[in-house]
Amino acid sequence: MLLFDFVTIRKESIIMRHLMSPLDFTVEELDQLFDLANDIENNMPKYAKMCEGKKLATCFYEPSTRTRLSFEAAMLNLGGSVIGFSDAASSSASKGESVSDTIRVISCFADICAMRHHKEGAPMVAAEKSSIPVINAGDGGHQHPTQTLTDLLTIRSLKGSLGNFTIGLCGDLKFGRTVHSLINALVRYPNVHFIFISPQELRVPDYITEMLREKNISYEEVIRLEEIMPRLDFLYMTRVQRERFFNEEDYVRLKDFYILNKEKMALAKQDMLVLHPLPRVNEISVEVDDDPRAAYFKQVQYGVYVRMALILTLLEYAKPTTPQE
Ligand code: CP
Repeated sequence: MLLFDFVTIRKESIIMRHLMSPLDFTVEELDQLFDLANDIENNMPKYAKMCEGKKLATCFYEPSTRTRLSFEAAMLNLGGSVIGFSDAASSSASKGESVSDTIRVISCFADICAMRHHKEGAPMVAAEKSSIPVINAGDGGHQHPTQTLTDLLTIRSLKGSLGNFTIGLCGDLKFGRTVHSLINALVRYPNVHFIFISPQELRVPDYITEMLREKNISYEEVIRLEEIMPRLDFLYMTRVQRERFFNEEDYVRLKDFYILNKEKMALAKQDMLVLHPLPRVNEISVEVDDDPRAAYFKQVQYGVYVRMALILTLLEYAKPTTPQE
């Protein structure tokens, strides 16, 4: 776990905010962000020119479909434009350029940057040298804050509130940065009960269970998905991440440990919702996609609205203001 999540960097008269962790926003600020995202959802044309003349840089050192393209769609929906790279090999990182130097260069070209990196903390290093807002679009196995904002907005929009539910998180809870980010965010809401469903090898890290115990938040750890299905309000499925395994043998042994299918869905409540950050491999059978409780493609759409709201919010903070001490 990184010890230095931060929110604000003061530069001359600009109070600029970055997003490194979902905890960088207070619960009240998140409510405002989600209200804005829902207004965007319902009044898209109102926002069509709000970022005219602004540029988003997407600096992706790791593969992505949803996060990069939804950031780009978000900026285009706001009337702005997009530059960037989708592969470290096509950037000067391949010649040895540091993240610190790259962000200084990008700061000359763009107004805001979304960065994904395989190294934990790399977007934070960039933020420290940046003169534009930096958004962590996923750093190694650490955090994926905009996926968490997407997950929270999806839950709030589809269930009406954040809190008073039981959520099962299933699959790769060891390496899954989306899971780590989501747990950190949900502990701030009332009466959320966590059930962690994983094989022993992919258990949620100890620092997370220690944090839950310290905060007196209830959780269980189980191996079998079937036994807890009837109790869940949300099931958050995750992919076993091949790219984070040290050896292929372990990956092959664990990759199909959980497969959500119609039989397992039959055990669940009628209003339970299935979420997944995607991409999926085998962990949700395609036969589940037609079940009205499958919310993972709606979740992708909410990702665009919340990224639009985030871009607007961070650009607003980056405007020059009177310094306050
Ligand atoms: N959910 C998610 O981060 O997907 P991508 O890796 O495709 O961006």
